[in-house]
Amino acid sequence: MNLLQKLEAQAAERKAMLPAGLHAFGIPIEEVYSPTEARIGNQRVLFLGTNNYLGLTFAPECLEAAHRAIDEGGTGTTGSRMANGNYSGHRALERELAEFFECRSAIVFTTGYQANLGAISGLVGSGDVLLIDSDSHASIYDGCRLSGADIIRFRHNDAADLAKRLRRLGERAQSTLIIVEGLYSMLGDRAPLPEVVDIKNRYGSLLLVDEAHSLGVLGARGRGLVEETGMMDQVDFITGTFSKSLGSIGGYCVSDHPQLEELRYVSRPYIFTASSSPATIESTRAALKLLRDGTELRRRLWENITRLYSRLKELGYRLGPEPGPVIAAMVESPEQALALWKGLLDHGIYVNLILPPAAPENQSLVRCSVSAAHTLEQIDRVADTFAELSAVTA
Ligand SMILES: Cc1ncc(COP(=O)(O)O)c(C=O)c1O
Repeated sequence: MNLLQKLEAQAAERKAMLPAGLHAFGIPIEEVYSPTEARIGNQRVLFLGTNNYLGLTFAPECLEAAHRAIDEGGTGTTGSRMANGNYSGHRALERELAEFFECRSAIVFTTGYQANLGAISGLVGSGDVLLIDSDSHASIYDGCRLSGADIIRFRHNDAADLAKRLRRLGERAQSTLIIVEGLYSMLGDRAPLPEVVDIKNRYGSLLLVDEAHSLGVLGARGRGLVEETGMMDQVDFITGTFSKSLGSIGGYCVSDHPQLEELRYVSRPYIFTASSSPATIESTRAALKLLRDGTELRRRLWENITRLYSRLKELGYRLGPEPGPVIAAMVESPEQALALWKGLLDHGIYVNLILPPAAPENQSLVRCSVSAAHTLEQIDRVADTFAELSAVTA
């Protein structure tokens, strides 16, 4: 089979999973009206499948900052941070992130994906060890591959398994980076952080926490699971993204270790790519201010989360272990997931369909992402529609 034939075979397999003409993946969104409403085809839909947790994509402060930045700085930097794209805005955002996390150092990357690639491949290399949760995001896996270090997976959220594997490493535990996520994107469950911190301290390893889904959501000031569990001074590196609670695009790594700065000279995903546009940087800075002062946004988000989680639970849907901004209904088969997803879309509700092998343990999921911008009426409409469709998964 030649290369093109291989791609054709893959396409045929994918098409066989879905009824003819149905775009379940990469669905085209024609117009966006607000953080919670858009048009797909000819239909106005309620967005419940985007990670706009604080609903900031249309915040006037962010729009205004982005407009001003385009006028003053142009549409793009056309260069990398290392060469010719290191603007004052990038440095200001790094200072603000470091201040927010009360850390010595912060590095901004062009995407959240690159933040993990850049941090991981810059921190560890050949001969070192990466000990990662088996349900880690693809960007963590790809960063691990890029690093050239030995990769060991421990069972998802299983601190005892992590400890066992570290013990087996002996002296090498000291050149090991452990990686967990604050909040896992498939089922919305959280890492057992206090236990993980205790283990990494016992073995002298370093710990990186990816807070992509927990920034702005967990912790009194929105600093994620690390803040919520009182571990701010125990975690070595935090990575995250601007593409969820901050409503833009980009990523970061923060640390109290001054050595983080060295990554700027060794991290290929930092060095060999163009830096974020001025508009992206300025809207992110404005969003970070709103997130920092966002107690009311977080209160509204959590009111919506609690309402949807408890309604779906009452209806008998099988959900992740705890409420969070990601609420996934686990159904018996890909066919049921597809029918539920399609039923919701026919009722004007857009959620995410996740089919094997994308979800943990080959599960089939219909995943909702809740936003502070949803009204209680919208949340009730979603729950009522799930109720109406519950026969689909019976
Ligand atoms: C846990 C995790 N880390 C990193 C990323 C990458 O972030 P971005 O999409 O902003 O590049 C994602 C994206 O979904 C994620 O879920």
